[in-house]
Amino acid sequence: MDIKIVNGKDGLAKEAANYIVEHLKKRDASVLGLATGSTPVGTYKELIAMHKEGKVSFANVHTFNLDEYVGLKNTDTNSYHYYMKELFFSHIDVPEDQFHLPKGTAEDIEAECHTYEKLIRQTGGIDLQLLGIGTNGHIGFNEPGTSFQSRTHVVTLDESTREANARFFDAIEDVPTHAITMGIESILEAKDILLLVAGKEKGEALSELLYGDVREDIPATALRKHPSVTVIVDTEAYQAA
Ligand code: GLP
Repeated sequence: MDIKIVNGKDGLAKEAANYIVEHLKKRDASVLGLATGSTPVGTYKELIAMHKEGKVSFANVHTFNLDEYVGLKNTDTNSYHYYMKELFFSHIDVPEDQFHLPKGTAEDIEAECHTYEKLIRQTGGIDLQLLGIGTNGHIGFNEPGTSFQSRTHVVTLDESTREANARFFDAIEDVPTHAITMGIESILEAKDILLLVAGKEKGEALSELLYGDVREDIPATALRKHPSVTVIVDTEAYQAA
């Protein structure tokens, strides 16, 4: 695991965006796995700025997001579809049919999980997966206890995750109880993984990832089994670990 320690949110955003742009420069086309949450917001902003300066194009990029809430329409401001369009896709040149998120309103959610997996495979698999981490060590929406053999599946969200994400909703009752997420095994199939960790509240999860045992109780520890993981961490999180 390659660890890069950076200063503050700006440092993290710049380092992560540069990493992604360098990755894209080496290829004619790429499949990116993308993440939501507050941590990557600055990275998307930075990528948009670099795109506007002509430093990067996403015309040959396909993207697959890690997860989506069950039951929220694409137009719901709390859906990850909305987040991705508002904060990234509508500002870059990625064609509409090249970005993908699981459909949280699909009639048959189980079937949607299979379809999503199939689409990732048909597109050639993920080259670079961007990840954040939950305070309980979750990645995507794979909560503690999720099997390391899991593929894209429906999850019941932990109360702690619903509480942590309630800040984006009017009330905790509005936070969905279920989500679709790529599984741990699906995530580990990415050729390279870039994990972003920011803030002291992530210290404990980071400490488990860096120094704890590899175990299903802390989903992020699965990353230690992957041969190519880069972690960009701000000093606050690093010092708290
Ligand atoms: C959510 C997302 C995760 C994300 C995590 C951390 O639950 N499903 O993909 O990594 O929150 O979010 P934040 O970056 O806001 O701390």
